[in-house]
Amino acid sequence: MASLTIRKLDDAVKTYLRLRSAKNRRSVEEEVRVILRELIEGREEPLTPFSAPPEAAPAPLRTGAVPEASVTLIIGGGIAAFKSLDLIRRLKERRIEVRCVLTKAAEQFVTPLSVSALSHERVYTDLFDPQSEFDAGHIRLARDCDLIVVAPATADLMAKMANGHADDLASAILLATSRKILLAPAMNPLMWNNAATRRNVAQLQRDGILMIGPNSGEMAEAGEAGIGRMSEAIEIANAAEKLLRPPLPRPLAGKRVLITAGPTHEPIDPVRYIANRSSGKQGFAIAAAAQAAGAEVILVSGPVDLDDPAGVTVKHVESARQMLEQVQSALPADIAIFAAAVADWRVANEGEQKLKKTSAGMPPLQLVENPDILATISKLADKRPPLVIGFAAETEHLIDNAKSKLARKGCDWIVANDVSPASGVMGGDRNTVHLISKNAENNAEITVDSWPVMTKEQVAIELVAHIVKNVADKIPEPAS
Ligand SMILES: Cc1cc2nc3c(=O)[nH]c(=O)nc-3n(C[C@H](O)[C@H](O)[C@H](O)COP(=O)(O)O)c2cc1C
Repeated sequence: MASLTIRKLDDAVKTYLRLRSAKNRRSVEEEVRVILRELIEGREEPLTPFSAPPEAAPAPLRTGAVPEASVTLIIGGGIAAFKSLDLIRRLKERRIEVRCVLTKAAEQFVTPLSVSALSHERVYTDLFDPQSEFDAGHIRLARDCDLIVVAPATADLMAKMANGHADDLASAILLATSRKILLAPAMNPLMWNNAATRRNVAQLQRDGILMIGPNSGEMAEAGEAGIGRMSEAIEIANAAEKLLRPPLPRPLAGKRVLITAGPTHEPIDPVRYIANRSSGKQGFAIAAAAQAAGAEVILVSGPVDLDDPAGVTVKHVESARQMLEQVQSALPADIAIFAAAVADWRVANEGEQKLKKTSAGMPPLQLVENPDILATISKLADKRPPLVIGFAAETEHLIDNAKSKLARKGCDWIVANDVSPASGVMGGDRNTVHLISKNAENNAEITVDSWPVMTKEQVAIELVAHIVKNVADKIPEPAS
């Protein structure tokens, strides 16, 4: 029979299930079983009358937010069990769901009531629990999670694990799991140093069981000190999070990347301006991808309707001249990517007051050329970023125009895209690009790499991957 993973459900469904199960004092799994049974018997509770109070709704996930994860936390019968209550809180504040199992001895130190109040889940204590074993509950606890944490891991629990015992719920779960196991041992220093515990610890390490601590310090018993104190809750939560969400590779760590995005607005008078249809989506996506690759990112953006990407320094500007000013003050940079659609011209005679209709006819709008940001930065004698990438938005002769732009502007690569109305690129979510690059050794040699149609996020990821593959390691380390 197919098994259902609760945490893979929509947030709204999960919230409903959590609230309904809390109201009925059942675990979420039991609540799902009840709902299914009632549905089959044709007497299901209506879903509508029970709506979540606004503050109970989980915060919406922002783009790039950490994925949810779940832990089965086994609490052993040691004096440090009280610290596990804080551990539950620490895990939950990291968006890690926690289902707790208490050994019989653990119930002498903390109550199932306080553990379930903190975890917002039913607490499991019995191997032979008909309610939970309705669908092999101990197997679900062992497998329907991403990690098993044992805190405190008592000498007794570790001895059972090392020898493959399975005579209670905790040890059965530990034997039946294929998930990683993280132990946080806690015991008296004499117990920790006992030859039997040493043998068990060595065996568990050979078996691939992970451990954090124990730390050294004072024991609960008056006057006793040594190695055996359980690691602090925050240390265990950090270790669990690292196992659940291993840090991503950061190939651009230590590199400073300057990116421009969006259109510019060139004022005609205080209320009117010349603009273009650029949405800024491509530049913002590149900023997010470079940041995710570990770079320090400065994004200079024209007026756009987008949220600032997390972890990126964003400078908001209006006009081409303001954009150039911000770009220059952001130098030096290792890589500069000019994805903004900068207006080529601005109005020379910008009105100080709103222009009025007069009988003299339409006001003459005189245009003057704007500074060319790409060419200016590409031709800098001093402070030229080692890699300068421009964008060429063309409506015809795409490759030829982009090649001549590469030569004219003096940049290293051009990302050329067709922005004719039929392409839907301007303001849209997809892009078809051609990467035109000069050979680093022989500038006369030009390569054209045509990419398939992709989302703007995919183009950004590809471009960053291309930078990492081709040049990131050739950019000199900043002088320290
Ligand atoms: C007050 C008290 C404190 C205890 N503290 C610990 C401890 O910190 N670590 C440990 O390994 N055993 C400790 N024990 C012994 C365990 O409770 C005992 O070995 C128990 O069987 C362990 O059960 P478990 O396997 O469910 O963890 C303590 C016992 C008592 C009475």
